[in-house]
Amino acid sequence: MGMTRVTAAQGSPSAAAIKNPVAASAESVADGKRLYLRHCASCHGSNAEGGPGNDLIPAAPDLTDSEWKHGSTDGEIFSAIKNGVPPELNMIPFGDQLKDAEIWNVVNYLRSIAKNAARPAAGAPPQSAAAAPTMRRGSIAVDPALQQLVDRAVADLAQRLNVDRSSIAVVEARAMVWPDAAMGCPRPGLMYPQVQQEGALIRLTTGGREYAYHSGGSRPPFLCEP
Ligand code: HEC
Repeated sequence: MGMTRVTAAQGSPSAAAIKNPVAASAESVADGKRLYLRHCASCHGSNAEGGPGNDLIPAAPDLTDSEWKHGSTDGEIFSAIKNGVPPELNMIPFGDQLKDAEIWNVVNYLRSIAKNAARPAAGAPPQSAAAAPTMRRGSIAVDPALQQLVDRAVADLAQRLNVDRSSIAVVEARAMVWPDAAMGCPRPGLMYPQVQQEGALIRLTTGGREYAYHSGGSRPPFLCEP
């Protein structure tokens, strides 16, 4: 992919030469986002716009702007994530926690949220830029507190149906207190602990059908099939 961004002095030529082998499909971007939120958001912020740091860890840089101190090619970003940023390793290496393919998904996700993401990545369907929830047509406005759950539900449905995330609209998203651990979606023959679960109900629509996702406790949104 031809990157035209400023390549900084500290990028490594050998890392720069690594080609991104994973197409920036909607699935790759969705998986990258999931991994990003799990492993990176605590330091770089949930929108990757940088974190403040603390007494022990210096501020983590914005990953959506065009400034890359350690190189701006996909290969260099991949290398920064896999091997960390020496010598201090304030940016810790993720090579033992994430598989290479997962790291590429994170790279694809970061590309998809770049502020000047005007250029679609080579080989990527142009719709991948439409992964931003605000661009989804026909969607209701989502309470920011539920946005992350909604994004996960949308990503899951997109993957299940093999459709683009931008074709999925949010019909309803609201916080719920489920009466028991079945979370409004009991499976026949199963018994559920009678404990209230705080969670959410998310209704999505695509292709003229509606899909209900329930979540609660620590369980991520799951499709409640009729
Ligand atoms: C413990 C906090 C922390 C976590 C967790 C973390 N980072 Fe970092 N990251 C940093 C810091 C601090 C830097 C700046 C390092 C430096 O310049 O020495 C950095 C730098 C980077 C860079 C280089 C940026 C540039 O300007 O070249 C990338 C890319 C990056 N991080 C991506 C990620 C990704 C992706 C994840 C999750 C897989 C992640 N980071 C997790 C703290 C963190």
